Amino acid sequence: MKIFLDTANLEQIKEAVSWGIIDGVTTNPTLCSREKQDFNDLIQSICEKVPGPVSVECVETQAPEIVNEAKKHCQIAENVVVKIPICVEGLKATKELFSEGIHVNTTLVFSPPQALLAAKAGSRYVSPFVGRLDDISSDGLALVEQIIPIFNNFAFETEVIVASIRHPMHVVEAAMMGADIATLPFGSLEKLVKHPLTDKGIERFLDDWEKVKQSMGKKPS
Ligand code: E4P
Repeated sequence: MKIFLDTANLEQIKEAVSWGIIDGVTTNPTLCSREKQDFNDLIQSICEKVPGPVSVECVETQAPEIVNEAKKHCQIAENVVVKIPICVEGLKATKELFSEGIHVNTTLVFSPPQALLAAKAGSRYVSPFVGRLDDISSDGLALVEQIIPIFNNFAFETEVIVASIRHPMHVVEAAMMGADIATLPFGSLEKLVKHPLTDKGIERFLDDWEKVKQSMGKKPS
């Protein structure tokens, strides 16, 4: 399973990339608004740090303008993937961009038919938002569970990015379902590593190692 970081924060990206397990980054206008930096410079800096695709969202609403905006985003760096919200104009733009070899991540996906249409239009990725569905008492992971067999049935190459992740169990369940990618905030990524028994175990081993060091060099009586 590929792990993407869902942030536009350069410090978080630098740190997570140093762990050696980051395959890409997803950004959105909300995440970019939190960084006090020129948008193009920010995306360029992110792309330089990430060894994989970086999703950059389009905010235009009509297909020709979305296509132009997408092409501008792609000029920033080779690893830019354009993120387009699912809608009719977005599908038209996706089809056009697909024909020109530009990778699209269809975002704000909340239903299986939206995912199906995005795949048919040629999206490289679809992003079902599991947390936002859970937030309204729906079942976000059930959506992922529906999308995966639909894509498998017809051998779509579109990859599923499980997005809007709120906690480690979202990642575990998504992995068990065979989702291609999980994109998660830095805080959730940290939680994937942690376990209280691991911390306790390390502490005990270090204490016991001190005893081993003290006994080393002592001659048996
Ligand atoms: C994904 O690409 C989105 O940027 C993100 O996962 C949205 O998450 P949120 O619902 O926590 O804003």
